[in-house]
Amino acid sequence: MTQGLAPAYAFLRACRNEPIGETPIWIMRQAGRYLPEYRAVREKHSFLEICRTPELCAEVTAQPIERFGFDAAILFSDILIPLIAMGVPIEFEPGPKLGRKIARLEDVDSLEWRGPSSVPHLRPVIRAVKERLGGRVPLIGFGGAPFTLASYLVDGGGSRDLAETRTFASRDPEGFARLLEILTNASVDYLKEQIAAGVDAVMLFDTQAGWLPPPEFARWAAASADRLLKGLPRSTPSIYFALASSNGQLDAMRAVQADVIGLDYRVSLSQARAILGSTKGVQGNLDPAALMGSPEQIVARTEAVLRENGGRPGYIFNLGHGIYPDTPVEHVELLVSTVKRYRGPGRRS
Ligand code: CP3
Repeated sequence: MTQGLAPAYAFLRACRNEPIGETPIWIMRQAGRYLPEYRAVREKHSFLEICRTPELCAEVTAQPIERFGFDAAILFSDILIPLIAMGVPIEFEPGPKLGRKIARLEDVDSLEWRGPSSVPHLRPVIRAVKERLGGRVPLIGFGGAPFTLASYLVDGGGSRDLAETRTFASRDPEGFARLLEILTNASVDYLKEQIAAGVDAVMLFDTQAGWLPPPEFARWAAASADRLLKGLPRSTPSIYFALASSNGQLDAMRAVQADVIGLDYRVSLSQARAILGSTKGVQGNLDPAALMGSPEQIVARTEAVLRENGGRPGYIFNLGHGIYPDTPVEHVELLVSTVKRYRGPGRRS
């Protein structure tokens, strides 16, 4: 690589809405249990140990890049890590179990965030990951969006419909606003620290926001994600992913200051683009279940997503939610080669 000249990573150029002759691809949960080499590391180390140990985190983050040639790496971590730093005990079994619930305003004020020193592992881990990647691909840092973090604290994460979180927000809107404010401010510090350590882009996961009706989605989820992103440098590309698919919810996402909107697998990519407008890029949105089917339907459904984008710039291929742990690795290889080979509308070359 030429010294002093920033490499033209397809992923970062797509984030900036620049026309490029290829479709960058990475997939959510690309480092994880569907990979035998991940399971081998996991047999010897706990999930949190991998997140916090530079060499282990670097190894696991790089595994899917080395096996499949994805166009971006995502830091191996979890959206709930900053909550542990705020004094909430969390165990991963592998689903998260929170040792404390935030049920009332008094509980909100017991959360403590002491700034970036609350997450001392972050810089050494990111430096080790960057070194291991060696400039081959950019690194995505990430955090939970404030509403989704709040929902884990209030409902404990495992809830089917977020009844307790929605009840909290209705019964005590000021208290709920205060909770989101604390989480937003802590997340600004947390993501700034990732950027200072060298991540090339940031992504916010709003996995639980889809339970809100559109006006509440706009008021709580989109507004706090927007405030968070406005606290970060504009020069670092940002992606806002919400597992939310109604037109009203998509309309609210348009107001979030993110370069790219991550689309879930239930939306039509072309209709979502029509709602979001041409200034934002999109990322998505193959159904992860498609990777559990036959090779023929993997190719057909992958090409259908590419066709829906219709060759517009500002497009990053991804799944519409995380890959399932029992996905065959050959199916992921087929997905990547299908995207790389695609010559229909969507490829300029
Ligand atoms: O995408 C990646 O490869 C990067 C790593 C990553 C993880 N979690 C690793 C992980 C990312 C980006 C996340 C985000 C995350 N974590 C979200 C938002 C995105 C989504 O998928 O909805 C949420 C809601 C969480 C909370 C969380 N952590 C859940 C629900 C679980 C259980 C997941 C499961 O599949 O059972 C975790 C644990 C977790 N986070 C694992 C991994 C690889 C499994 C832990 C293990 O290997 O034992």
